[in-house]
Amino acid sequence: MSDSATPVNGDGDGTRAVRAGLPEPVKHEPTLPGPVFAAHFHLPGEPTGPYTYGRDENPTWTLLERAIEELEAPGQDDVETLVFASGMAAISSVLFSQLSAGDTAVLPNDGYQALPLVRAQLEAYGIEVRTAPTGGDAQLDLLDGAKLLWIETPSNPGLDVCDIRRLVEAAHARGALVAVDNTLATPLGQRPLELGADFSVASGTKQLSGHGDVLLGYVVGRNAEAITAVRRWRKIVGAIPGPMEAWLAHRSIATLQLRVDRQCATALMVAQALRERPEVTGLRYPGLPDDPAHEIAARQMRRYGCVVSFTLPTRTRADRFLDALRLVDDATSFGGVRSTAERRGRWGGDAVPEGFIRLSVGAEDPEDLVADVLRALEESAR
Ligand SMILES: Cc1ncc(COP(=O)(O)O)c(C=O)c1O
Repeated sequence: MSDSATPVNGDGDGTRAVRAGLPEPVKHEPTLPGPVFAAHFHLPGEPTGPYTYGRDENPTWTLLERAIEELEAPGQDDVETLVFASGMAAISSVLFSQLSAGDTAVLPNDGYQALPLVRAQLEAYGIEVRTAPTGGDAQLDLLDGAKLLWIETPSNPGLDVCDIRRLVEAAHARGALVAVDNTLATPLGQRPLELGADFSVASGTKQLSGHGDVLLGYVVGRNAEAITAVRRWRKIVGAIPGPMEAWLAHRSIATLQLRVDRQCATALMVAQALRERPEVTGLRYPGLPDDPAHEIAARQMRRYGCVVSFTLPTRTRADRFLDALRLVDDATSFGGVRSTAERRGRWGGDAVPEGFIRLSVGAEDPEDLVADVLRALEESAR
């Protein structure tokens, strides 16, 4: 074995995940050093880095940032990664550090439900915001004069997909930067920087950490000037992860490939089972060969995610279905090892039918989960 802990490019995703971000082996030291709890570091004389004050840097973040970068942008040297307190902290850091009054941003109108809040705040600061749906690459038509294009693919909760490379080419031709929310795909499902994007941004709260016990976010960027502004924003706002959260996320990345492969395979089985049910409409899973997004998804994704969305005839039917599930918790969020589902319309922020369900497939035995979903559908009809 070589004394380098860093995975090499030819290694598979499982190998890369278990070794991601590990430091060089040191005799008597643990493989993954524990969380470093420090508000400040010994710093006599000139205040030089890497570790000065806990809002600016932390050794536990450094290892996690390296791990994320190895998965998001393998073999790319000109890339920098920053971790944040949450996905929203990461998203806001990109948008608010890159845009100022008079600029124009293009956002999806069917993305994560906090984006309209971000939009309102951007507009309050004098930034013009244009929106269009993810599907059909509709954001293409809004790019003239834009400074930044924000893509969310697959979109949450509708699971539409857009062609990242096509949108990047059009945006770059107009001098606009492109950021992709990679939360749903994870870096094992999609690598936006390889498709030309300037930023890959994600909530690490979901499948990256995968146990429903951590809030975290990250930004991976290749444009040195842009990422410097994002780092400065993190310092100003102080939206930093705790060392414990960062360490838990890093520990969880070791099983990312196992979890993602299992969850994606089961999600496909669940989607196939739902497709046979007469009461289910609007079924979406990008991995289904007849899903409207499958063709583009197959071109740019390596795995299709753990979320399946569909609609039941009424709100009551959807609520009864959720009540009847034994193995699926009625809860928001997605990507965890325990399946969750919710009637998305209960939040009021998404343009979805009342009976719309977002189901996040966990790591249960696939047969058990499919049986539970089918039984709950039967029971909810009574
Ligand atoms: C696609 C997407 N992006 C960003 C976020 C925000 O992440 P966080 O909850 O970690 O702030 C979410 C949360 O659900 C999400 O689904």
